[in-house]
Amino acid sequence: MSNTLAIIGGTGLTQLEGLTILQAHDVYTPYGRPSAPVLEGVIEGMRVLFLARHGHPHTIPPHKVNYRANIWALQSLNATDIIGINACGAITKSVLDAQLVVPDQILDYTWGREHTFFDGTGDAVQHVDMSNPYSASLRELLIDGAQSSDIDIVKQAVYGVTQGPRLETVAEITRMELDGCDLVGMTGMPEAALARELKMQYASLCVLVNPAAGKGHKVITLKDINEAVANGMVNVLAVLKKSLEAYHY
Ligand code: HPA
Repeated sequence: MSNTLAIIGGTGLTQLEGLTILQAHDVYTPYGRPSAPVLEGVIEGMRVLFLARHGHPHTIPPHKVNYRANIWALQSLNATDIIGINACGAITKSVLDAQLVVPDQILDYTWGREHTFFDGTGDAVQHVDMSNPYSASLRELLIDGAQSSDIDIVKQAVYGVTQGPRLETVAEITRMELDGCDLVGMTGMPEAALARELKMQYASLCVLVNPAAGKGHKVITLKDINEAVANGMVNVLAVLKKSLEAYHY
């Protein structure tokens, strides 16, 4: 069976530059509507699906994203593989000077989100394996894409996912660091787990847009975050394009 790649764009990526749109799919799912119409298009000669996680324009906060509808909608359009783009703050030295990170582990601090397809309303209860939450092959694709574009990328890190939408306190970041988190964001979960539940391959490409609370020298402002996101997206797009060239259908 052939593979189809979907990209879930986060903050700063509500549309995919260079995507020639063939069709916008308005999908209704058993879980409600996804964040936006799913765009089917061609980029670098490859057919891909694109979904803006926070809607287009960006209006849905991280804790209100309908992650189940988003993942279900992508699978209903035959997506097999998903790359999620996530803006994050940097916690540890290993990532403080970096811009792009492909995490390999997750610590989930979110609460109250609809986080499973197996909520006891359907068939037998399932417990999916999440030992390694991300797809090894998609992670490799992204890392190779960065390396062949001469863009620095951190190849291993623990992504701590917080509830938001507020940023963290210094004490929270200190605790997260002690827990083993390297970076912090608000959208990595339950997206990764839901993709796993539907047996889809999933990886995350994180863009670091600020030092996390207590790790920098100034107050974190939305203006600074937005500027860093805009800068980061140039490299995100370059990595995505290179990765797509190597993607096997
Ligand atoms: N914390 C949580 N989420 C974020 C941050 C942060 O510092 N920066 C961007 N997304």
